[in-house]
Amino acid sequence: MSTLITNIGELMTQDAEGRILHDAAVVFEGERLSWIGAAASAPAADDVVDAGGRAVLPGWVDSHSHLVFAGDRTAEFTARMAGEEYTAGGIAVTTGATRETSDYDLTRLLLGRVAEAVSLGTTYLETKTGYGLDVEHEARSARIASTVVDEVTFLGAHLVPAGISAADYLDLVCGPMLQAVLPYVSWADVFCETGAFDAEQSRRVLEACKAAGLGLRVHGNQLGEGPGVQLAVEFGAASVDHVNYLSDSDVDALAGSWSAGRGTVATCLPACDLSTRQPLAPARRLLDVGVPVALASNCNPGTSYTSSMPYCVTTAVLQMGLSVSEAVRAATYGGALALHRETGEDVDGARAVGSIAVGHRADLQMLNAPSATHLAYRPGMPLTHSVWRAGTAQ
Ligand code: NIG
Repeated sequence: MSTLITNIGELMTQDAEGRILHDAAVVFEGERLSWIGAAASAPAADDVVDAGGRAVLPGWVDSHSHLVFAGDRTAEFTARMAGEEYTAGGIAVTTGATRETSDYDLTRLLLGRVAEAVSLGTTYLETKTGYGLDVEHEARSARIASTVVDEVTFLGAHLVPAGISAADYLDLVCGPMLQAVLPYVSWADVFCETGAFDAEQSRRVLEACKAAGLGLRVHGNQLGEGPGVQLAVEFGAASVDHVNYLSDSDVDALAGSWSAGRGTVATCLPACDLSTRQPLAPARRLLDVGVPVALASNCNPGTSYTSSMPYCVTTAVLQMGLSVSEAVRAATYGGALALHRETGEDVDGARAVGSIAVGHRADLQMLNAPSATHLAYRPGMPLTHSVWRAGTAQ
């Protein structure tokens, strides 16, 4: 079954050359993009969609979210808006609520959150454990997530739960908990921050997870300067996420990580920055020195209860100094880069995501607008017209 989308006013490919085509068309067969070019020379297909001059771009790649949870932290948010500071401790509130929720309800909540994200154009999604914080519940979160999202990250090292010492908890995280989640996850993460895990503890987690064959990511430099970025680079992590407080040497380390091949992506989380009243991550500065940047939602009940990638893109343009094309690239190709999914076919035979190129997965979104510029020009408007995920209309 082939599908032709024609009469595209602006096709923002985010491919290797960053091509933007006008009066364009794309064809996909099954889940694979098979043709891209001028509408006037498009081949025939089984099904034809007339874009009516609208813009088409890659579906969003949301490379950082925490969607497996139950409960509500509205009161914490309200207190924060009244001047309280965010601290890692709120994670324990969500952990309590999550543990009390049945598998059925947790799955239903997760499916609902994924549906919300897809309705806003997200077509490839990572999510993390981290609200179980014991062997049984971390394994359960990983298992449930693996049935719903594209990529699952083990975040047992999110917070030391009450009633156990940090040393004993790390023995669990690096031992039986890691073994229990391994069938379901491909990534591991650690919250390297004051109030969560220090450099030495984070190093232990990263070493154990790397030895177990997992790819690495780090929550770093969210609430203040710290060792997160340097550790991420040292371990060859795929990304370091948050990056609100960077020293000159952190920026140099990130830039240097790309000087001899693949390095560490800086993932910026603007919705979180606004919701926690932290300074916006310095995405402009990072791009200017050659560090690849990803934009992600960080959807979670504590610091960023939104999965809206359009909101992140809009904020990146209006408040972080990125052009529309840079912001869209960070929210598509950048996310794919942070998940090692930007090119070719991986060992599982999965297709590249995050850009529109022949052979890549047919993850597309059509805007109810003639160009992607409208994402910033018309902030907050419902611009998602249609979404195709792996070639299937959503
Ligand atoms: O990425 N920073 C650590 N983890 C989440 C917040 C978790 C929470 O407060 O529930 C984040 O912002």
